[in-house]
Amino acid sequence: MMSSSIGIFDSGYGGLTILSEIRALMPQYNYIYLGDNARTPYGTRSFDVVYRYTLESVKQLFSMGCNLVILACNTASAKALRTIQQNDLPKIAPNKRVLGVIRPTTENIGNLTKNGHVGLFGTEGTIDSMSYNIEIARLFPNVKVSGQACPMWVPIIENGESKSDGADYFVQKYCSELLIKDSLVDTVILACTHYPLLIDKIRKYLPRGVNIISQGPIVASSLKDYLSRHKELETTIGKEGKCLFYTTEQPQKFSKNASVFLNEEIKATTLNF
Ligand code: DGL
Repeated sequence: MMSSSIGIFDSGYGGLTILSEIRALMPQYNYIYLGDNARTPYGTRSFDVVYRYTLESVKQLFSMGCNLVILACNTASAKALRTIQQNDLPKIAPNKRVLGVIRPTTENIGNLTKNGHVGLFGTEGTIDSMSYNIEIARLFPNVKVSGQACPMWVPIIENGESKSDGADYFVQKYCSELLIKDSLVDTVILACTHYPLLIDKIRKYLPRGVNIISQGPIVASSLKDYLSRHKELETTIGKEGKCLFYTTEQPQKFSKNASVFLNEEIKATTLNF
């Protein structure tokens, strides 16, 4: 039987911040990364469109030999994951699995905040979906969650401007808007996988001592735990430590930008589906 790979999907480059942590923790597995750069950003798109794009990408990764796909995108996790898990998987691939990034993050939040005031930066799609608020209210009813949509951050990052002075304007703007909603936040979740690229600037505009949470390490350790509990899936994954990169846009541009995200030279291939 041919071995499978772990598929990591994002609308663009953001999922690379998750991939790099997963690979650091579990370098033995084979991975396939898919960025839907031709249709990024997802954050401002409707529920139906995000669901359709995500399902197409998941099916593509399945057809390339992935038995497990991680939606390394909060927007896709918020808007498409549940429908894919409940309606699509039983019909198209009952033995394959699709996991998201919201659940592992929310499961950890009660241990991270000391005063119960949590801030959330995300795309409009993620914030409007209230997925984090609902999940955290269920797990940690005493935690107050204040969400702040940051629609300009993904375009800034996708265009390679995350270190520029121009980025400061929008980082400061959304940090101030969050602090107006709750000046007591002691923990802030970067609930968009792109945002770790702005973490230095975000730190600059939040009060000293605020705990800023990137999802990569959380998702990686949760995946490790999942695989230890699902041997039937884990044993199908190839263990040659390979990682292939695919984009729905031009490979040269993806390779150049992804190399910056990952701090390593990569070569991507274009996929049309
Ligand atoms: N990286 C994605 C996320 O975590 C969002 C990017 C987008 O808007 O396409 O939400």
